[in-house]
Order: sequence, then C-alpha cells, then structure tokens
Amino acid sequence: MSDDLDALLASLTDGSGDSPLTTDIASCGERFIQALSTAKSISDVEKVRLAALGRRGLVSRWLKGLGTMQSDRRIEVAPKVHAIRARIEAALAARRDHFEREAIAARLQAEQADITLPLPDEGLRAGRMHPLSRTFTEVRGIFASLGFSLREGPDIESDRNNFGMLNFPDDHPAREAQDTFFLPDSEGESMLLRTQTSPVQVRTMLSEAPPIRIICPGRTYRRDDDQTHTPMFHQLEGLVVDQQSHMGHLKWVLEYFLRRFFGVESVRLRFRPSFFPFTEPSMEVDVGCERRGEELFIGTGDDWMEILGCGMVHPNVLRNCGLDPDVYQGFAWGVGLDRLAMLKYGIADLRAFFESDLHWLRHHGFRLFAP
Ligand code: DAH
Repeated sequence: MSDDLDALLASLTDGSGDSPLTTDIASCGERFIQALSTAKSISDVEKVRLAALGRRGLVSRWLKGLGTMQSDRRIEVAPKVHAIRARIEAALAARRDHFEREAIAARLQAEQADITLPLPDEGLRAGRMHPLSRTFTEVRGIFASLGFSLREGPDIESDRNNFGMLNFPDDHPAREAQDTFFLPDSEGESMLLRTQTSPVQVRTMLSEAPPIRIICPGRTYRRDDDQTHTPMFHQLEGLVVDQQSHMGHLKWVLEYFLRRFFGVESVRLRFRPSFFPFTEPSMEVDVGCERRGEELFIGTGDDWMEILGCGMVHPNVLRNCGLDPDVYQGFAWGVGLDRLAMLKYGIADLRAFFESDLHWLRHHGFRLFAP
C-alpha cells in the first residue's frame, strides 16, 4: 500500500501548494490525515510528516507563504494553516504511538521467556555460600542479639599487640608454642602474622572506653598443617569489659551461644583450669556430646569435646591498655570458627575449607535462595 501513499503524497506536494491562496487548505489537510490512516509502518508515518511538516513539506511552505501575504489575507488564512498543522501533528503522534505499541507487543510476544523451564545443567548454577561464611553469619547474629558489636584488626600485627600487651613475657616459650610466622621488623617494631585474634582486644581497649562488648572474627596464622590444622585458620574472639562482669556472666554467655549455635535445648559445659597469659583464671571449655560411629552430636550424651578457651581478663592486660584493674574487670574467650563449622556441619577435614574445590563447595555450600 506504500505505493498508493507515495502517489497521494506526490499529488499533494506537486509544487502547486506554494501559495495557500490557490489551495483548499482544509481539504489538503484532510488528505494528509487520510494518508496517515493508510500508513503501514513507522516509516510511512515519517513520509507523511516530511511531506507535510518537513522543511520542504506543503504545510511548511504554506507557513512561509504567510509571510509574503497581505495582512488582511493573512488574518483570514493563517488560523486555518495553524489549525491544520496542529491536527496533522496530533494525528502523526497518534499514529507513531500506535506503531510503537505494536512493535513492543510484537517484541514481548517474540521474546517471551518460559520461566518454568529447568536451568541448563552446567554454567548457570547458582553460587553457594561457603560453610565458613554461613557459620560466621550465624555466630554474628547470635552475639548481635546479645548486644555485642564487631571489631576487626589487621592480619599483620606487631609482636607487641599479639604477645607483649597480652602479658606474654619476653622470650617466654609461649611465643614459640604458637608456632608463629615472624616477619621482618617494621619501623623498629617486630612484626608477625597474628597467631590469634586476641590483639584486637588490645586495640579496642586502647581506643575505646568501657563498657566494651565485642566480638572479633578474623584470619589467624600458625606453622601447622594436618587434617585438623591449616597454616591459616579463623578465630572468633569475644571480650567484655566493665565494672562488674564476672565468671557467672561468662558461663551464661557461652552456654547461650552454644545452645543457639547448635540449635539444642540445653548444652552441658565443663570448665577445666588452663593457662593463657592474658587471662586469670584461665579455662578450657568442653561441651557435652555423643559420638555415634563417625557422627558427633552436640547437646546429648556423656562424652566431652574441647571447644574453646576463655578466662577473666588478666589485670596486667587491663593495666597495659590503660585501664585500672581495681575499677574494671571482664572476661574473654577465643574459639576456632572453622572448628565450629566442622562440628556443626560434620566436616572432618579442615584443609578442604580452603582448597576451593567446586565439588566440595557444591556439596557443603549453602543455597542462598530456596528451595
Ligand atoms: N588466643 C587463644 C588461642 O589462640 C584463645 C583464647 C583463650 C582467647 C582465652 C581468649 C581467651 O580471649 O580469653 O589459643
């Protein structure tokens, strides 16, 4: 039908329209409108627009012609030209809109996706959350609900923050007991890869005033490598300092945490005397469990499993951090995050946590979205 349109437009713009005097404005205008109604596509609409309103289009020429007209004539003709231009513009917009909608509808039809189709097997698998990230998210949530906030420190620490301030005597074998990776000195300080998250306690007590209630998660490093030890592993430190927190609070916090973390009604805890330079008294905590073959159940049974270290913050540590031990007191604990994940999710080999093996991650990882 485009040929008919072309012929119609040609007849309308064959040069006879330079002066609106000789032309029946209204009927020409109507013929443009009619031409538009035969348009089959957006490009037909554009042809009509050019023929009418383009720089050399008929209506444009009429408008130019108005300028050379005697004023009484102009007063008579101009309103008609303007009126027909407005009509044509409106009709053009309506037609254009029509074709645009049609194009969108056609695209929607053509590109319709069947969201009920199963995913292609490879390549488009949803990612999984690492068991360790999941464990940390859970732990953080539990302590957040108790009003603890989060503090972090650097992996590369000074010997002073990792040991000295924490009441490890100089040249004490305890420094060696932690199989430290020592680093070259920096600005006169002995440096190392932190062996524990405990230096974050120091950093926090030096920069914040009590009451302090924090957890400090992070990477820690020791020269160690077997099924249950890797040179890099994760700890979670907890610290409470105020004027009256005592061992009863420590016991309650740990018990509450373990109950919620393992999702059990109650846990039995056993506190054994131990030694850490930075706590006095120091304790190791065992949790009641049951071993059935390879499997381990926390919360039932009459077996024990060591789970963390804790104690009351040593007066020397408080003093080193500028706090008066006659005024302030508090408790702390340190627990292996990886160990918590292994216990909760029944994963026997720690090394696999850090090997980024996709099969392992797919098996032990967690879906982020149901199902
Ligand atoms: N830093 C200790 C370790 O790596 C764990 C620990 C024990 C941290 C007792 C503490 C604590 O804050 O009070 O073995």
